[in-house]
Amino acid sequence: MNYQAAIEQARRDPEGFWLEAARSLDWAAFPARAHDRDDDLWFPDGSINLCHNAVDRHVAEGRGHQQALIYESPISGRAATFTYRELLTRVAKTAGMLAGAGVKRGDRVVIYMPMVPEAVFAMLACARIGAVHSVVFGGFAAPELAKRIDDCQPVCVLTASCGLEPGRTIAYKPLLDSAIGQCRHKPDTVILLQRKELRAELTPNRDIDWQAAHDAADPVDCVPVKSTDPLYILYTSGTTGTPKGVVRDTGGYATALAWSMAHVYGVSAGDVYWAASDIGWVVGHSYIVYGPLLAGCTTILFEGKPVGTPDAGIFWRLIDRHRVKVLFTAPTAIRAIRRADPDGAFVAKSDLSSLQALFLAGERADPDTLNWIADLLDRPVIDHWWQTEIGWPAIATCHGLGESEIRPGSAGRAVPGFRFSVQDDNHRKVAPGTVGNLLIEQPLPPGAFRALWNNPERFAEGFADFPRHYTSGDAGMIDADGFIHIMGRTDDIINVAGHRLSTGQMEEVVAAHPEVVECAVVGAADALKGEMAVAFVVPRRDGGNPDLVRKELIASVRETIGPIASPRSVWFVDGLPKTRSGKILRNLLRSIVNGEEIVVPQTIEDPSVIEAIAAQLAETAAD
Ligand code: COA
Ligand code: AMP
Repeated sequence: MNYQAAIEQARRDPEGFWLEAARSLDWAAFPARAHDRDDDLWFPDGSINLCHNAVDRHVAEGRGHQQALIYESPISGRAATFTYRELLTRVAKTAGMLAGAGVKRGDRVVIYMPMVPEAVFAMLACARIGAVHSVVFGGFAAPELAKRIDDCQPVCVLTASCGLEPGRTIAYKPLLDSAIGQCRHKPDTVILLQRKELRAELTPNRDIDWQAAHDAADPVDCVPVKSTDPLYILYTSGTTGTPKGVVRDTGGYATALAWSMAHVYGVSAGDVYWAASDIGWVVGHSYIVYGPLLAGCTTILFEGKPVGTPDAGIFWRLIDRHRVKVLFTAPTAIRAIRRADPDGAFVAKSDLSSLQALFLAGERADPDTLNWIADLLDRPVIDHWWQTEIGWPAIATCHGLGESEIRPGSAGRAVPGFRFSVQDDNHRKVAPGTVGNLLIEQPLPPGAFRALWNNPERFAEGFADFPRHYTSGDAGMIDADGFIHIMGRTDDIINVAGHRLSTGQMEEVVAAHPEVVECAVVGAADALKGEMAVAFVVPRRDGGNPDLVRKELIASVRETIGPIASPRSVWFVDGLPKTRSGKILRNLLRSIVNGEEIVVPQTIEDPSVIEAIAAQLAETAAD
């Protein structure tokens, strides 16, 4: 199948297209229908177990001796390899451990863990017994963890004694205890994995030692679930302080991921596929854990950074060591490597002959970085676009369908199954080459979200602005040849080092400080991280020491949201630019910090406010 044929078939006969794709999986009951239009559900009458397809099936088909999971942790100095047979043993025992802790089908399990193999076993073990996992990124602070626990109400939380960041060990237990202390919902059980770097004290009558419980557990088999049953909940930033709990179904997701491994990434059973992300993000769910294992690939779990653990050559050495065929990372990682190794000296020291393509996503891939790495690697570097809500790539150059044209600045063309439209705010389709709201026609293909946990109203909002379309929240442009260019968000979400964060949420934290009268947080362009938060604060007239307040505000964002959200700077200003109706003109602030042309709208209440802020920033820059 080539790209054009796939696009046309998916458009003409989506039912046939996706039923055919579903045949690559083992179903307990193969679906008679692909799509239920009334409820917008994929494979409504199918039943399946994703863990069976990602693990057991490969052993049954004779791939038991193949490497399934390679753990590389340059930050701890450890490495380990698990064959599919070993993975099966570990996952079945972990499922037994969960069952022993009272976890049943449909129960939620929060996984707040670093990048260790046990976290992957735990995700698969949940899938095995039909429990719904919700992985919380280790870089989130206790209040963020608490919000997620309260929303999804887990019976059990899985954690570890610590995470490892360069130069420091992050004790998870105090963070978890603090989160549970803040929660209305109290999980019955915490299962804690002790790591060598730091041991945690267990809380009596609640905490269980992972190793002991795992060793004592009997292996448990896969339970078929309805295709439409939730596999996981993954929280992502919305425009408010409350995260959105994206619910992922089982059969549609499995089908979409399996299809994408072959047709987007061009890999198949036996290939080594590495997504250098974190299991706390959607990339980790789809392309560290489920996608590569569904495809029978070897996946790599990397606990480290692209630079500094120990150097900017780590990606290339691991590609060489494990014969990686496809690498997926965020543009930030490449910018960090370029900064540390501008001439690519480390690349030259490794044998990268196994590598066929590098995929980038999570944030805008600036053409300069993309061209630098493409020249250095001398192989396709493919930008592609998707979101937590979507679950798998929606815009890409489909390498596995033989596509090769790459236009720097564009994330590629629509992936078969997705139909894009760009419309202005008045719901009019814009001409090719014109920027507008990037929308996806309904129904969304398999794999994309069908619900937000406990929040049908908020889910409906994503489809409310433009009839029959999902609003991505990105501004985009489709050129005359169908290449889609992502121009940035249309809302208050920013992307810091590929991490999706809400400036609205940061404003809530900053505004809570007693010295702050009002504030605005915007995303400023950042040469390394793509974007970073910058806060504009109007202090109380008799306010305290600005340096101290600044430090307290930064500390407060770190402790309330997490260190990944640290603002780059805090500006104290006399007033914020507003419209006459009182709306803060954040885009003017963004233009000032980014040194862009300032277009003052007619509706501004007091133009002198923006002039004063511009002068203040210019003065500091001149200093
Ligand atoms: N647990 C606890 N803290 C974490 C964490 C985690 N899992 N991940 C990050 N942090 C902390 C860091 O220690 C750092 O704290 P500090 O401000 O006290 O130093 C802060 O959060 C910011 O982290 P990070 O964004 O990783 O910045 P960095 O300066 O440590 O590293 C890069 C810079 C570019 C190397 C790093 O951002 C990176 O690897 N980016 C690629 C991101 C990526 O792959 N994203 C996945 C999306 S596909
Ligand atoms: P997340 O849900 O964390 O994956 O973040 C999704 C958002 O990241 C998108 O809505 C975009 O704003 C941004 N994003 C992801 N991939 C790209 C890309 N290839 N180019 C530009 N922006 C991207």
